[in-house]
Amino acid sequence: MVLVTGAAGHVGGALVRELLENGEKVRVFVLPEDDISGLNGLPLHVVRGNVLDRESLRSAMAGVDIVYHLAGIISIMPGRNALMRQVNVVGTSHVARVARESGVRRLVYVSSIHALGRPPRRTPVDERIPFDPHNAAGEYDQTKAEASLAVLAEVENGLDAVLICPTGIIGPYYHHGGSPMNAQIRKWMKPGVHVVINGHFDFVDVRDVARAMILAASRGRRGETYIIRGARVSVAELISIVRNLTARTGLNLLVPFPFALVGATLATWHAKLWKKPVSFTRYALETLASNSFISGEKARRELGYQPRPFSETVRDTVHWLAANPEPNRERAAAPARESPARARIAVVTGASRGIGALVARMLARKGYRVLLVARSEERLTRLAEDIRSTGGQADVLAVDLARPEGARAVYDRVIETGEGIDVLVNNAGFGWYGYASDMPSETALQMVQVNNAALAQLIVLFLPLMRGRGHGHVINVSSIVGGFPSPWAALYSATKSFVDTLTTALHRELRGSGVHVSAVRPGPVLTEFYQTVFRLSQGRSIPVGRFPIRPEAVANAILGLLRRPRRAVYVPRRFGAIPWVELGFGWLIDRVAVLLMRRQGA
Ligand SMILES: NC(=O)c1ccc[n+]([C@@H]2O[C@H](COP(=O)([O-])OP(=O)(O)OC[C@H]3O[C@@H](n4cnc5c(N)ncnc54)[C@H](OP(=O)(O)O)[C@@H]3O)[C@@H](O)[C@H]2O)c1
Repeated sequence: MVLVTGAAGHVGGALVRELLENGEKVRVFVLPEDDISGLNGLPLHVVRGNVLDRESLRSAMAGVDIVYHLAGIISIMPGRNALMRQVNVVGTSHVARVARESGVRRLVYVSSIHALGRPPRRTPVDERIPFDPHNAAGEYDQTKAEASLAVLAEVENGLDAVLICPTGIIGPYYHHGGSPMNAQIRKWMKPGVHVVINGHFDFVDVRDVARAMILAASRGRRGETYIIRGARVSVAELISIVRNLTARTGLNLLVPFPFALVGATLATWHAKLWKKPVSFTRYALETLASNSFISGEKARRELGYQPRPFSETVRDTVHWLAANPEPNRERAAAPARESPARARIAVVTGASRGIGALVARMLARKGYRVLLVARSEERLTRLAEDIRSTGGQADVLAVDLARPEGARAVYDRVIETGEGIDVLVNNAGFGWYGYASDMPSETALQMVQVNNAALAQLIVLFLPLMRGRGHGHVINVSSIVGGFPSPWAALYSATKSFVDTLTTALHRELRGSGVHVSAVRPGPVLTEFYQTVFRLSQGRSIPVGRFPIRPEAVANAILGLLRRPRRAVYVPRRFGAIPWVELGFGWLIDRVAVLLMRRQGA
């Protein structure tokens, strides 16, 4: 039995066909939401899972002899793509590790020619060039290099793995989203004016890549990398072969490289703004201008690999594209979004009691699977059992967010589950009341760590995942004192100002991205907050006020934000006037604050 990850993709489709023709029993590993209609009618054993979920990989690899790992994300867009990094790097590390632990006889990993460093022009690119995780060309190249190094690290631990680095892949068959190169050839098959950039690249037939993988499985040397190339052609040559095959006339508009770069930058902005697919980015152009003198000598010598004539590849691709309708463009362009069947995931910090515990209960009632985070394991476990007893889903993570590694532990836990995150409620926090000159410096440090550093770290860690999906909501629990600097709560007020500023800035930064960041600013809430403050060394008891707010009101406000995202809400709403009071009468407050404090016995 062989296992193919990423079988719903372009190479995956070709590989499973080739394997079946060779009489192999094939198990395919695809995402729960993957459309595998392209594999309809083929005798395959389908397993649904996610490379980010080690358990699903473990069951897929049971009884498997050879694993072909193809699952990955390709992006030619500039900027960070957290989901691509997760899937390509973390996912590949998981595949390699689980393959070793499951006793798989051999892993064949499809890396990329782009994972290798880029030597100067006209120096032949061969397997002596190391993988370059710092490649300046783009994040895709870096993730493929990091993933390849992760596989090689597992080889050091005893895994038998072979890596192949194909050049630009073209050929018949597409997956549900369509292959970018096939989409380009489809455009050239139509009459009209076509923009031509004076560049070359090496293109290899998808069926040859599939054949090379099978050769690598049987003949490749353990821990070795093989470049799988086809033919080096210019863009103009490729267009002219396509035109001859389709008997179409057309005009080539040769664009000088510097102009093309400007055009690519504009096309990328346009694509980002209108969420459209783009095949013409700076990265794509730089690839065409890069060193394409690629040697396939090692694969020929050791694997017996020979690419087919390039004309055959283009002919079959054109015929196949002509016979098959264009894939749905909207679907091809859609970013990876959550599967409707997947439970929504919420992380709530400070969930052991008070506002956090209530929010967690309410989210679970709304169908969220909630990760409860705080220090008191016993309280968290009791709450999780309570949620489960009413049909909800909850997990527990006991962690101290005052420790620098606390936030990272929360992130790692979410990544381990492989299900992503939809909502992050940054609620953990504490105060201290009294003259700052009496405050123990250790308490000050812990307050900044819990109320600010951990909150900021969690946001920075989770935002890329949310942005990658184009969906998510971060809700930060601030306080009215964030906009009303309060004597005797100086540091606490300052930590909440930090939360407010960060929230507002991110709210602006993320507008239109599908990700929301909001703050809740409650007045005094009747929770254990006050006892905690009093228990802290050298702290005084805070006057709760005559009309304390019930924690349910704050929890309701948080749930309300999920229904109708906004920058900030005050609880109660009338406290929204407090920052205006500060703005207009700050001078007066400066004078009376001392008197008020004296009345309280300062
Ligand atoms: N109560 C108010 O008057 C009021 C007003 C405005 C804003 N707020 C804000 O609302 C949030 C929740 O307060 P609350 O009233 O619900 O207070 P609370 O009952 O004292 O709850 C605080 C939560 O934070 C957790 N926490 C504290 N230190 C932590 C640490 N080092 N690591 C991990 N978790 C930690 C606590 O859990 P463990 O002790 O188990 O770790 C607890 O679950 C806080 O951010 C607070 O600043 C409160």
